[in-house]
Amino acid sequence: MKSMEKIVSLCKRRGFLFQSSEIYGGIQGFWDYGPLGVELKRNVKEAWWQDMIAGHNELVAPESAPGTFEMVGLDCTIIMHPQVWKCSGHFDLFHDHMVDCRESKKRYRFDQVRGRWVEYQDKKVFVATMAEQEQELDEVRRRGMKFFKLRNKDADKLTVNDQSLTIDKLDGTTQVLAPDAKELDTLTAPREYNLMFKTTVGALGGEDDFTFLRPETAQGIFVNFKNVLDSSRVSIPFGIGQIGKSFRNEITPRNFTFRSREFEQMEIEFFCAPDQSHDWYRYWRDRRLAWYKSLGLSDEALIMREHHQDELAHYSVGTADIEYAFPFLPEGEYGELEGIAHRGDFDLRSHMEGKLDPKTSPMTVELGEDGKPKHRGSGKDLTYRDEATNEKFVPHVIEPSAGADRGVLAFLCEAYTEDEAPDENGKMQTRVVMKLHPRLAPIKAAIFPLVKKDGMPEVAQEIYGTLKKHFNVFYDEKGAVGRRYRRQDEAGTPFCITVDTETMTDRTVTIRDRDSLKQWRVNIDDLTAELTRRINV
Ligand code: GAP
Repeated sequence: MKSMEKIVSLCKRRGFLFQSSEIYGGIQGFWDYGPLGVELKRNVKEAWWQDMIAGHNELVAPESAPGTFEMVGLDCTIIMHPQVWKCSGHFDLFHDHMVDCRESKKRYRFDQVRGRWVEYQDKKVFVATMAEQEQELDEVRRRGMKFFKLRNKDADKLTVNDQSLTIDKLDGTTQVLAPDAKELDTLTAPREYNLMFKTTVGALGGEDDFTFLRPETAQGIFVNFKNVLDSSRVSIPFGIGQIGKSFRNEITPRNFTFRSREFEQMEIEFFCAPDQSHDWYRYWRDRRLAWYKSLGLSDEALIMREHHQDELAHYSVGTADIEYAFPFLPEGEYGELEGIAHRGDFDLRSHMEGKLDPKTSPMTVELGEDGKPKHRGSGKDLTYRDEATNEKFVPHVIEPSAGADRGVLAFLCEAYTEDEAPDENGKMQTRVVMKLHPRLAPIKAAIFPLVKKDGMPEVAQEIYGTLKKHFNVFYDEKGAVGRRYRRQDEAGTPFCITVDTETMTDRTVTIRDRDSLKQWRVNIDDLTAELTRRINV
């Protein structure tokens, strides 16, 4: 049976993942990738880069695409000008609200997108929409929670089951307190804090010198939009992709690497004409889901969740999450792997004109108390001129935003399998095997001499020397061959190559397939071609 405990234990035992700074007791929300983990993560990022960016052929439109397009890459700095975060909205809006329950010692945060308080185990605690409140109230009472936020900000009284609830305004948010709230003080007052890590630039480090570690890679792409356009001669529609570290001071990081404080993102900002943006949104949503499936995530474990209209950010006409049934979630629940958002022209316009006002539509620049723009934009022209029509417009953006670490975690969870296989004496035993897609597997093939004599190690080493020029391969001559197979099964190695007595006469070796356990013979000279064909399926 698959369980999170078993997966976490295998990851540590075999060197996929370690807790950061473990010898000092660890630091919450930070993880290190061990020798196998680093290869797996590199392969996930490489597959994304190859399939989405470098290997994309703009001369031929993929079948489902509304037309041809180009993709280019970028690598921006983690620390950027502080104004970037003011115009992006992160400075004002990238907050979590947090309450602690003094009794249960549990901590809850307010999920801005879903409009709900959620416990840090991703379990729903209670729901804030008017329609859902009645059903949820019993649950709220049972759990001893007394706060929730109303979407309907105008309400000043709410009747549920003939009981009147009092409403209290606190820090600008509407809080609702259950009427029988004797234990009102079991919850601390909500606190608001920004999720960005603040840091200083320069030796003096005064208040004027502070900036932030980026909480997403996306903004680096927006502020370089004009540079890419001017330097690479791309024309709309086109996409810019970036892989890199992001940092969020999550209140309570949880569930292994799922919610970390330092993580990597793989983001695309796809720029297109406004009248084609809906088609491109649908295209990217479907293409990204297909990508996860092509690398082995099963249909049953994946869902595409379209956000409801009332969940969308004010500028967005559509957002979908690709979600995976992580084993740490209760049956039937899914966790976000990637979000695909239609962002309109919000980001480019904000960096051009100044931060837009979240309350207004059509968008106008948000004004501060002094009546001047609250956060001034760059003033640079980020419009696009269509050469054919001479029309000038601010492109719309479709953003497929994936987490590399969440992808790795999903691939690890999917791969973990227990089955039955014969041991070296032919007796059936439970076997732990990581059924990673060959493209993602950290080690592509292991090479074994059957015994450590009769010239077999020399031939095996010769094969190892040839193959390592093409793939990450592993040589092992220690212990019984059955035990060597088992170690490779746990590492997710798709192929084991064994040099035996027959090899010494006809130069053929056996290849064993990790999943089917089938074995067949191949000439040594054909090994590179055979593995290349089987890895790139
Ligand atoms: N630019 C849009 C953006 O950053 P997001 O939904 O906040 O959107 C995108 O993040 C993806 O980044 C998520 O779907 C998830 O895979 C990953 N991610 C976000 N926060 C994370 C965290 N604390 N730990 C690990 N991965 C995270």
